Amino acid sequence: MIGNFTYCNPTKLYFGKDALEGLNEELPKYGKNILLVYGGGSIKRNGIYEKVVAVLKAQGKQIFEDGGVMPNPTIEKVREGVERARAANADLILAVGGGSVCDYAKAVSVSVHCHEDVWEKYFIRFEDVSCEVVPVGCVLTMVGTGSEMNGGSVITNHAQKLKIGHVFGANVFPKFSVLNPEFTFTLPKYQMISGIYDIMSHILEQYFSGTDDNTSDYLAEGLLRSLIHSAEIAVEDPLDYEARSNIMWTATWALNTLIAKGKTEDWMVHMLGQSVGAHTDATHGMTLSAVTMPYYRYLLPYATAKFARYAENVWGVDRTGKTEMQVAREGLERMEAWMRKLGLVMDLTELGATREMLDGMVKSTLIMKGGYKVMDEEDIRAVLSASF
Ligand code: NZQ
Ligand code: ZN
Repeated sequence: MIGNFTYCNPTKLYFGKDALEGLNEELPKYGKNILLVYGGGSIKRNGIYEKVVAVLKAQGKQIFEDGGVMPNPTIEKVREGVERARAANADLILAVGGGSVCDYAKAVSVSVHCHEDVWEKYFIRFEDVSCEVVPVGCVLTMVGTGSEMNGGSVITNHAQKLKIGHVFGANVFPKFSVLNPEFTFTLPKYQMISGIYDIMSHILEQYFSGTDDNTSDYLAEGLLRSLIHSAEIAVEDPLDYEARSNIMWTATWALNTLIAKGKTEDWMVHMLGQSVGAHTDATHGMTLSAVTMPYYRYLLPYATAKFARYAENVWGVDRTGKTEMQVAREGLERMEAWMRKLGLVMDLTELGATREMLDGMVKSTLIMKGGYKVMDEEDIRAVLSASF
């Protein structure tokens, strides 16, 4: 475990079938004005909206609505939300939805009292927050991003063909999050498996870095094994509470800063996926699954030992009589078979991407430097080309 670090996660979690009751404990801590943020309407169809509103009313809160947050929230919508939060004089932003709604709530929270251009400040210059932050709470309805317990906020700018995440500090993490696995039961299968793959990718982005003997890697392997196991059950029976609750808990720990400790972290699958997302507006987890195999096969010669460890400890590959490279390859083959069985998208064409977009996608891909190989434009082009 190499490196110095500080660890503090300030988000309080309420987990389980009765988790929504946690709102009764949290809401009295904030003023009367609640900006209730949600997406395109799933919470109205599945009854979650009514349940949340009932608690808010019982707590004597004044509700100001901000619905219509789209998947992959846009900077225009953030600007609109800022105006609504200002008009409401919001004391708390309550996000009820998936990662998009939670991310959006955070972007609004750091912008209400900020009078600079929000896109430029946070998503181009990556500056810290220099104003008061409106507190955010989350009621999660879609599992995958980890946004319920981290400072991530990913916003899309269609005009600039950029989808960019700012990882804010502890002052922007949700103050509390309500995690009821049953709230995810109405997710369409496509969204469920996309979220499952997002979780896997988050763990791998952190795992594939570093050469030291690091507790974080052992934690990552355990989380991956749990995820692989529970995902297989959930795909067969989406109403299996045990599997869905394990997946929800794994998602939270996959990206709440714990397993990044002592790691440099890679994140290139996400940079490639976000670039695809900026050009297609496709579902986040599927943009990751489509580029993963070409990227990892490209990386293999630079990280053979780590891929062999992954194959053995996560996919149960037996090393006997095999070279390290053979073990590593077999691990990736097993991973690919699992991904296909789950029903993940493995080709960019299925997401609406075309080869004409290639130049633009190469340009929109941010380059991160913490992985086993620092990619250049040609590497990125090669990986994206192989993803069709
Ligand atoms: O908008 P509604 O009508 O609510 O429908 C949503 C949306 O269409 C639907 N949904 C959510 N809960 C549901 C439901 N449908 C039925 N029943 C339910 N219980 O699912 C669709 C997708 O929702 P969304 O919030 O977009 O999905 P997800 O949680 O995957 O969030 C994706 C966004 O998070 C960002 C992604 O880039 C993307 O913009 N990420 C955020 C991260 C972070 N904060 O750390 C990290 C991730 O890597 C990721 O980049
Ligand atoms: Zn992700």
